[in-house]
Amino acid sequence: MYYPDELIEEVRARNDIVDVVSGYVRIQKKGNSYFGLCPFHNEKSPSFSVSQSKQMFYCFGCGAGGNVFTFVMQYENYSFQEAVKLLAQRAGINLPEAEYSEEAKKRDSQRARLLEVNKEAAKYFYYQLRGKSGQAGYQYLRKRQLSDETIKKFGLGFANMASDDLVRYLRTKGYDDRLITEAGLGSFDEKYGMHDKFWNRVMFPIQDINHKVIGFGGRVMGDGKPKYLNSPETMIFDKSRNLYGMNFARTARTDNVILCEGYMDVIAMHQAGFAQAAASLGTSFTAGQANLLRRYAREVILAYDSDGAGISAALRAINILKEVGLTGKVLDLKPYKDPDEFMKNLGREAFEERIRNAENSFFFELRILQKDYDLGDPESKTRFHREIAKKLCGFSEEVERENYMEAVADKYHIGFENLRKLVYTYAAQTGLAAPAVRPKSGIQKKNDPRENQKKPQKLLLTWLVEEPELWPKVKKYLSPEDFTEDLYRTIAGKLFEDLDGGRINPAAIISMFAEEEQQREAAEVFNTKLMELATKGEREKAFHDILLSVKKNSLDYFSARLGADVLAITKVVAGKKELEELSKTHISLD
Ligand code: GTP
Ligand code: MN
Repeated sequence: MYYPDELIEEVRARNDIVDVVSGYVRIQKKGNSYFGLCPFHNEKSPSFSVSQSKQMFYCFGCGAGGNVFTFVMQYENYSFQEAVKLLAQRAGINLPEAEYSEEAKKRDSQRARLLEVNKEAAKYFYYQLRGKSGQAGYQYLRKRQLSDETIKKFGLGFANMASDDLVRYLRTKGYDDRLITEAGLGSFDEKYGMHDKFWNRVMFPIQDINHKVIGFGGRVMGDGKPKYLNSPETMIFDKSRNLYGMNFARTARTDNVILCEGYMDVIAMHQAGFAQAAASLGTSFTAGQANLLRRYAREVILAYDSDGAGISAALRAINILKEVGLTGKVLDLKPYKDPDEFMKNLGREAFEERIRNAENSFFFELRILQKDYDLGDPESKTRFHREIAKKLCGFSEEVERENYMEAVADKYHIGFENLRKLVYTYAAQTGLAAPAVRPKSGIQKKNDPRENQKKPQKLLLTWLVEEPELWPKVKKYLSPEDFTEDLYRTIAGKLFEDLDGGRINPAAIISMFAEEEQQREAAEVFNTKLMELATKGEREKAFHDILLSVKKNSLDYFSARLGADVLAITKVVAGKKELEELSKTHISLD
């Protein structure tokens, strides 16, 4: 770790988890906690909780959990260090530069240089477009009905006919050939020497969500090939995690994002007032981009080309959206090819109408699927219905599945009961879809035999966090070694120290772990549901059972290690005595 623990703790303490989470997720106060829809799995009723007193979040649906660092790591796909940085900035805390490793420092400065040189190139292209040699480019953009205002907003530019003027310009600004090459703005060639990558093209600067230019797309003005030339991937230009136009779309404050295929589509949409349009970067839509979209919208409206390639691309995109828990809808742009052409011909209001009538992505999939079957033929029709049933098994939530079954039965004139039977036949064979898996980290394994040993350990730690006043009564029976899971032992070590000191701080304990998965497990330890027990007697019995079970497990564990572990013999001897004493002792919860 680069930063000292005290600093990490200061950053954590000065970022209230409720404030931070509210910036990303709508949460509402209910009792002692805040609740909302979990951003880490697909759900319709809120099981995602944020506790102000514990400074932790926990999802009872998918098990995601942790402190404010974990949240930022998962949401932004950040490393622990990156999360610390972001939150330090948010709280106005200066992080010491010296704590950086040399390597990290170098990477940061290389990034900064690449951003600078891209910005300089964008400026150059921008002025070219307005100069004499840029007239062809300017006329082309005007002919495509872009206003001066739009051209300016998107920073469009022009790379002229000269083959090395950008390189020469950048050199005068102090950038060396190596950086220019690494930025993908120029390259070296035996015959021509150092020369520009782009010439005689209108230029579309590609910006990240913070409006920083990270690459370019350049379009020929006629029918030349390739139609679009894009910057290569660089340290700052990751095509799978950025979207064209997202720097504007992110602040559109609509509940949806309109996903297009091309740069020109995005620009035409924005010009027509649809500030929520974005597009992928000349490659197909990726999970990284879906994750980016998820930060800003719940629903994605696909405005892909209406041809065969566009349909296949839409089907792929729908699956990717589903995986991250976003709802997809599909626009019908016919008789036009893409949003740009549609807008030119039918205009804004007609487009709005199409948005209102956008097709639910499940029905879109079925409609495309149907083309492979002949519904006039009973044999083929039956096969189609089977395929539908199979797809319906993909809904993990019962209410949703039932609603879709109803709608499908209605739409395709299938008897509801027959369809239901078919669905459950498939479900019996292949199982219903499991609840959405959180991206990245592991899922809890319900049938893991180790769960039986882990559960009491978790419960005991949770109990002690919730009722620290019990500590003096149980202290003499417990040591961190009784917790046979590595992670629990580390937590117990710190927690017991804090309990001895009279002040516990569970959220700080979570920061001891740099890995997201460990943080999640640690959060689980502090959020295990304690049974709702009515009487004091019941509660005392439960507590006693849990304590006994932890001690028993510990004894078994060390007995099995006799001979292999020098600590084992002492633990076994002491453990036997403690267990015996404990089974005779009544621990009162008063
Ligand atoms: P216009 O023809 O100018 O209206 O562009 P468009 O956006 O309608 O283009 P199209 O639908 O053909 O392509 C969609 C997107 O795919 C473009 O915005 C580019 O990002 C990408 N693309 C298109 N042609 C090429 C190409 O030849 N090479 C690469 N790398 N990407 C391309
Ligand atoms: Mn087009």
